[in-house]
Amino acid sequence: MPASLLPEALLRPDGPIAATDRELAAVFAGWPLGHPDARLVQEYLTGRAAGVLDVSGRPAAGSGAEAATMGTDGNGTDGAGTDRTDGVDTPAPGSIVLDDASGALALVVALTGAGPVVAYADSIAAEESARRAVDAVEAVGSRIQRMASVQPTPGLRALAEASRSLPGPCRVILSAPKAVRVLDEYLEVLAPVAAEFVVVGRDKHMSRGLNAELAKFYDRVDVSPGRAKSRLLIASRPRSAASQGTASHAPVPGASDRIPAPRTAAVSTRVPGIPDIRVSAFGACFGGPTSDPGSELLLDAVRSHLGPAAPATDLPEADGSPPAAAEPVPTDADQPVAPRRILDLGCGNGWLLAALGALHPGAALTGVDVSRAAIASAAVTCAAGTPDGNGSRARAADPHHSQPTCPRLLLQDATAPLPWGAGAEAVAAGMFDLVVLNPPFHDGTTIETGTARTLIHRAHELLAPGGRLVCVFNTHLRYRPIVDRVFGTSVQWARDRRFTVVSAAAPT
Ligand SMILES: C[S@@+](CC[C@H](N)C(=O)[O-])C[C@H]1O[C@@H](n2cnc3c(N)ncnc32)[C@H](O)[C@@H]1O
Repeated sequence: MPASLLPEALLRPDGPIAATDRELAAVFAGWPLGHPDARLVQEYLTGRAAGVLDVSGRPAAGSGAEAATMGTDGNGTDGAGTDRTDGVDTPAPGSIVLDDASGALALVVALTGAGPVVAYADSIAAEESARRAVDAVEAVGSRIQRMASVQPTPGLRALAEASRSLPGPCRVILSAPKAVRVLDEYLEVLAPVAAEFVVVGRDKHMSRGLNAELAKFYDRVDVSPGRAKSRLLIASRPRSAASQGTASHAPVPGASDRIPAPRTAAVSTRVPGIPDIRVSAFGACFGGPTSDPGSELLLDAVRSHLGPAAPATDLPEADGSPPAAAEPVPTDADQPVAPRRILDLGCGNGWLLAALGALHPGAALTGVDVSRAAIASAAVTCAAGTPDGNGSRARAADPHHSQPTCPRLLLQDATAPLPWGAGAEAVAAGMFDLVVLNPPFHDGTTIETGTARTLIHRAHELLAPGGRLVCVFNTHLRYRPIVDRVFGTSVQWARDRRFTVVSAAAPT
């Protein structure tokens, strides 16, 4: 594995890499360690701009860099038999950086290229981190357009809109996605405007499926030499241009208006009383168009403890506050108080919200998620409701409740302090009778439990007096002590081979 893609001349203390290193080290402690993907992109773009690297990241023919650069195969090909005569970079008038969790990629692109940079991430929390990093470098801050400014647009529409603001064909740099379908959606939206589409990632996260997907939209796909276990896949020669007879390397002007359709499936559950639900999921949405097994266990526990016919064991105290919904509140002491205001904290594809709507047809439902794809997916799932089309079966289950089950959906980082949003749409402390939580425990490909901890605190704040948190987690994660610390005590409502469901009530 080469130490660098570049010849010595570009790595000298007075060279272009050292100059951008100084800016980057001011933002990222210990740069470039800890940012191998961004470093590789930095070298690639610098080498392309200087004409010493070809499109594949190898020494450009005639650049004199062949012998000086480490790690090339020395035979003038990229292993796929393509030539290196394609080396000189015609600077793209703009760049789009996708799913850059730290801001390092966006900064590298802004520091090494010309033209505006659009930074977009499915997670608005990732976008916010990128914004902070970019703001730290005055010289480039104004050239980077942040998607935060076009919030709150869920899904890919925001990206399509932003790409239209670029002056012409662009270069896209994507941090390797966990699923190929994420790349597929980005390609559908951006291939018409992207002269070059680069995927960067750790070797272990790069699959052949990514190459195949790129090859559907581009005639040439190169694999760069690896550096510090990172690698680039570089797609060039867009097919959209060739198919429409335009100049060979220029993409068709104007971004795609076509937003890819989500994947859809009818999902059955073993939980009694829950109808089949037509679930939709865009590529980056957690879990795809399915129900999560942990959430099924949670739903079954909610049904047996708080459902219409549940025994009144371990129930929250009635909170005494006036009902938010118009329908009558059960007063029978033997019956649980049905939750009227329900929040799914991290609602994903909306399956759990739709199922809770079927269980409690009169309840006002709210879903919050940090992922644009999740909110866009939940909107489609909840609009479809059940396979009969519009959720009418769920609503019809209880003739006393005529409220629509269509939830309010909010694109929001739920670790941020309350309130969220503004005006009548704001989500504030003390608003919910029931908060369901199936917290994330991955950040990209790393296990991460800090978010769950913060979400448990947030759930406590969001509950009305006597309101209830129901939380499911992989048993080995041992979140119950956290719930106990935040709420004072908790009870286990369900457990199977993988998951535990605990419940805790806010003080009355
Ligand atoms: C395990 S999934 C649960 C999805 C859904 N509640 C269900 O049960 O099917 C966790 C969800 O939390 C969301 N999430 C992760 N971090 C978040 C944050 N900081 N704020 C809001 N949502 C977050 C993820 O995008 C994901 O959709």
